[in-house]
Amino acid sequence: MALSRPYQPLLLRILHGSVGLFLMAAILTAYWTYDTYDGRWGKIPLPTFPDIEGIHGTFGLWTLLIFPAFIIYAFHRGQKRLIQPNTLRKLTQVGKPIWWYNLNRVTNTLALLALTFAVFSGKMMDENWLPDGELNHAWYYAHLISWVVMVGAIALHLLMNAKVGGAPLLLSMLTWEFREKDSPTLWSGQLSRWWSSVQQGAWRKWFQPMTTMIALEIAILVSLVAAWIIPLLK
Ligand code: HEM
Ligand code: HEM
Repeated sequence: MALSRPYQPLLLRILHGSVGLFLMAAILTAYWTYDTYDGRWGKIPLPTFPDIEGIHGTFGLWTLLIFPAFIIYAFHRGQKRLIQPNTLRKLTQVGKPIWWYNLNRVTNTLALLALTFAVFSGKMMDENWLPDGELNHAWYYAHLISWVVMVGAIALHLLMNAKVGGAPLLLSMLTWEFREKDSPTLWSGQLSRWWSSVQQGAWRKWFQPMTTMIALEIAILVSLVAAWIIPLLK
């Protein structure tokens, strides 16, 4: 493969691709659920299909299950592509290439926050509300808003990536080819080296120094854990 072409690490493509795929399915089935049970802000004549709610819940759940791994990847190996300490200052250089790169980092970070909000509010939903015609629950409104926010965040994310790298960059996320050093045959060795470093105390440095980004990562992971625990307490 030509080195000049943009290249995405295989693990990133797997995590990003599965989150993206399940999320798209969740977004489409979410709309169909809304169309079946609600429709107060407009409707397209999709067939009424009560089971779509459960199908949506399943895709939402799959997204939620992979999302923590993607978060950990994005905040560590992919850290350069998220918001940086100097990002806001650089955003004053309007229209220069660096401005677009930084805007891209901002929209990547926004996509992660939007998805956290969507899966969290989804977990706060009760599957009986819509079939029972209860359309005025605060968490239902929050979950509806999360759909609009998520669609907006993905649209911006795609626009920014198209602006920064055009079709070659977008396609680099969707190919199956990988470089030798990225081969999955190396993963078990890397995992066991990582595990022995953890056992030797590498974990003590995990949260050092405590930057804003690490605090943000912890806040997201804690809210994903809370999304599982809170419904159990109801
Ligand atoms: C729907 C199709 C999507 C396409 C075609 C796409 C495309 C891309 C591309 C090309 C990059 C690499 C950018 C670079 O090299 O600077 C990227 C990175 C990223 N995308 Fe997407 N994306 C999609 C959906 C999503 C969704 C749904 C989310 C969030 C929930 C998301 C979050 C991210 C993040 C956080 C990064 C940075 C990853 C890292 O390096 O750690 N993307 N995306
Ligand atoms: C980006 C958009 C969305 C995402 C990522 C998402 C994700 C989720 C998640 C993770 C769950 C919890 C599933 C479970 O615990 O089994 C859920 C449940 C639910 N969502 Fe969404 N959702 C989105 C938008 C919507 C919209 C717009 C509606 C409007 C009708 C909706 C309706 C529901 C309902 C009724 C439930 C409860 C059903 C169940 O738990 O089986 N969602 N969603």
